[in-house]
Amino acid sequence: MTMRHLPIAIFVAGIAWLGGGHASAQDAAAGAAIFKSQCGICHAVAEGRNMVGPSLFGVVGRPAGNLPTYHYSPATRSSGLTWDAATLDRYLTSPGTVIPHTIMTYGGLQDAQMRADLIAYLSTVH
Ligand code: HEC
Repeated sequence: MTMRHLPIAIFVAGIAWLGGGHASAQDAAAGAAIFKSQCGICHAVAEGRNMVGPSLFGVVGRPAGNLPTYHYSPATRSSGLTWDAATLDRYLTSPGTVIPHTIMTYGGLQDAQMRADLIAYLSTVH
């Protein structure tokens, strides 16, 4: 390698390092920021605090549509789903695909890393 190419090689290695580090870690702190910008307008994480959407306190692991204090759509209430990480990942990609006729009017989060960070964050809220 000539000296002329060295800075580029270092730059590329740096990108690979950053990319690798981010892809392997699920970052709950990043997820908190994503929650705020994508979900916070309709959801709170405080226990019992329903807004337009139900409280997401303890959502990871709980059956869909089972908060007695929130008025769910029949679609969500009878979905038979449990919000484990894999199901949440599918739902947050495209809510209306996983639960047709849900009243959650959110288009979906296409970035897999952002979904992973968000679910990591939701796992801490219990
Ligand atoms: C525009 C308002 C809105 C936004 C934005 C929104 N939601 Fe919802 N969400 C709702 C509503 C309304 C429901 C109730 C759905 C139903 O009953 O069919 C819901 C339901 C849910 C449920 C099911 C909860 C349960 O108790 O079964 C989860 C999980 C959920 N939302 C997560 C999220 C996450 C995570 C985000 C951010 C990526 C988000 N939502 C963004 C309005 C919203």
